[in-house]
Amino acid sequence: MKALVTGASGGLGNSLLRRMVGREGLEVRALAHRSSIVMEGCEIVRGDLRDRVSLLEAVKGVDTVVHLAALTHTNRQEDYFIVNAEGTKNLVDASLASGVRRFMYVSSLAAQPGGGSYSESKLMAEGMVKSSGLKWIVFRPAEVYGVGSGDAVNKLVGWVRDFKVVPVAGDGSYTLSPAFIDDVVSAMIVAVENAALENTAFTLAGPEPMTYIQLVDRIGRFLGVDRYKIRVPILAMKLAAEVLFLMGRDFLVRDQIPRLLCGKDYDIELAVRLLNYRPRKLEEGLRQCVSP
Ligand SMILES: NC(=O)c1ccc[n+]([C@@H]2O[C@H](COP(=O)([O-])OP(=O)(O)OC[C@H]3O[C@@H](n4cnc5c(N)ncnc54)[C@H](OP(=O)(O)O)[C@@H]3O)[C@@H](O)[C@H]2O)c1
Repeated sequence: MKALVTGASGGLGNSLLRRMVGREGLEVRALAHRSSIVMEGCEIVRGDLRDRVSLLEAVKGVDTVVHLAALTHTNRQEDYFIVNAEGTKNLVDASLASGVRRFMYVSSLAAQPGGGSYSESKLMAEGMVKSSGLKWIVFRPAEVYGVGSGDAVNKLVGWVRDFKVVPVAGDGSYTLSPAFIDDVVSAMIVAVENAALENTAFTLAGPEPMTYIQLVDRIGRFLGVDRYKIRVPILAMKLAAEVLFLMGRDFLVRDQIPRLLCGKDYDIELAVRLLNYRPRKLEEGLRQCVSP
């Protein structure tokens, strides 16, 4: 089987690529965008989700597309739709034209209406994949953390370690369920290798949802530090994001706030049953990637 992996220079995509390359019966091609990808045993092609011609080249001879490429942090809201929604449509069209058998799309647990532009663009893309006529698999990961993932939970761990005061947006009662990167990748590999699996969406969250406040406290306990949590009104967080945007800083992008607050479905039962998904508890994951 020949698979194309997009987004292979990103945190999650790179971990997946490493685990896919060298597997028996699997030939892997990776789509490199701006960043270069160096991996022995993997064919690299250049392309951009906005460039249809490059995508037609990228999918030539491919049976399975594993599509992770996305814009994940920007303050230019329209770009989420151009890259994540229209870009996915371009890749779906190229896949249909070239006879791709299965299209695996890495969506997000935050792909919810009202979750902000990133979330909505991912939701649109998910819909396009499901209605494309291709055989599809959708993965909906929660917040992924661990070595190689530069995401929100990793940043929060760094903050709790380095600062005595931790800002909490609003009352901190909204929930998260961080998933350790290796667990997410293992489940994806099972799906890639099980060619019979099709037209199913899998939630890949951690084993136990927790509030943001509980997450901060558990990270603090893990690190052996006691941190003061300061509640920042949502409106003030939004203003801070606006100011950072005007200053050209992307430490906090505007739509991260609705992304964090939107309701999510943490039911991982299908992934446990069909992908042998066994997500580890937060502290077990932190032990793999953070020195206490
Ligand atoms: N990490 C998480 O916590 C998490 C949670 C839920 C869902 N997800 C989803 O998982 C996927 C991977 O996430 P990640 O955290 O690994 O993302 P990431 O680190 O931000 O990486 C994004 C990847 O997409 C590529 N890309 C961006 N624009 C592109 C374009 N126009 N054409 C082709 N490639 C493009 C980037 O390549 P360049 O760097 O070369 O531009 C990079 O390889 C995304 O679809 C994301 O929505 C992630």
